[in-house]
Amino acid sequence: NYYAIVMAGGVGSRFWPVSTVDFPKQFHDMLGTGETLIQKTVSRLTQIVPQENILILTNERYSEITLEQLPFIKPEQIVLEPVMRNTAPCILYASLKIKKMNPNAIMVVAPSDHWIEDEVQFVANLERSFQYCEQKDSLMTIGILPTFPNTGYGYIEYDKLDVRPIKQVVQFREKPDYATARKFIQSRNFLWNAGIFVWNVNAILKAYEMFNSEMFNLFQSGYSFLNTSDEKQFIIDNYSHAENISVDYAILEKANNVFVLPATFDWNDLGTWGSLHEKLDKDANNNAVVNATVVLENASDNIIRTSGKKLVVIDGVSNFIIVDKDDVLLIYPKEKEQDIKKIVEKINK
Ligand code: GDD
Ligand code: MG
Repeated sequence: NYYAIVMAGGVGSRFWPVSTVDFPKQFHDMLGTGETLIQKTVSRLTQIVPQENILILTNERYSEITLEQLPFIKPEQIVLEPVMRNTAPCILYASLKIKKMNPNAIMVVAPSDHWIEDEVQFVANLERSFQYCEQKDSLMTIGILPTFPNTGYGYIEYDKLDVRPIKQVVQFREKPDYATARKFIQSRNFLWNAGIFVWNVNAILKAYEMFNSEMFNLFQSGYSFLNTSDEKQFIIDNYSHAENISVDYAILEKANNVFVLPATFDWNDLGTWGSLHEKLDKDANNNAVVNATVVLENASDNIIRTSGKKLVVIDGVSNFIIVDKDDVLLIYPKEKEQDIKKIVEKINK
């Protein structure tokens, strides 16, 4: 009864110039392990979900890369979105498809671009969540102990007195402003949302029906086409009419049956060059080097990556992102890494 959906339609623009609209970060080997992030994600999931029960949702422009990187995934397991509409439509659509395959399915929703090393604990946490959602119509989130007021995450409030391993969520707040995030961290009963969800199909479909009936009706109207040869046309005709919104805002902030399991595995969403730097091996001066030979003098805390194992010589540079990719060279201060997204938007204009 276990199913999984992998969301792989984002563009990861803060990882430019390695991650681009044509080739986003989930399809790159960001950590230099020999496997791309989506390959790692899928292999992690297959330890608990049968391979044929995994659906990949991505933009149609990534259809070839997806099949190439996941050769054991059949074309009918991939949903190709004609337009980007964020995660709420993609999750609803996949949930309806899964419901049609198995009306009692329990499913995990996974981002395609995160770092999780301890696969044993990851699988154990999922198993526990699956079992919980088999019994109850709950929307399960996986919570991460927060370390700083990151405004790019969702925050999960739980009752301090609730000592159960799986706790009822008091409040889910997506991307609060800095002051609010700081207050949350200080009050010590908030967790970061890892962006990994578990629920049974009926619970999530009920939630969409209740909190976004327009989107629910739009996709539900094609129920008879799902998993048939007419499905492609239905997607082309209807997908662009869905609201552009994330599941966090559309459902999790509104529902009152949200639960959280504090994760027992280390997690990093690899959202920026800085978070990647944390996860890479470093030299004695905290420089992380990928695909390059380096001669470093007076250089510390840098992340250095080339596409062709180039020789990089650096003197007197610290705390920089130095990335060489084909015809682009990025030299950018690490503390301004969030701005790379804006630069990319400017360049694309
Ligand atoms: N198929 C598809 N279609 N996938 C998408 C789309 C889309 O239109 N948009 C984004 N995705 C994929 C991304 O590739 C990523 O794997 C996942 O969905 C989450 O999207 P992000 O854009 O990375 O979300 P976020 O980082 O802003 O926020 C989410 O993740 C945080 C943790 O990393 C939220 O769930 C937060 O609450 C959470 O803290
Ligand atoms: Mg993200």
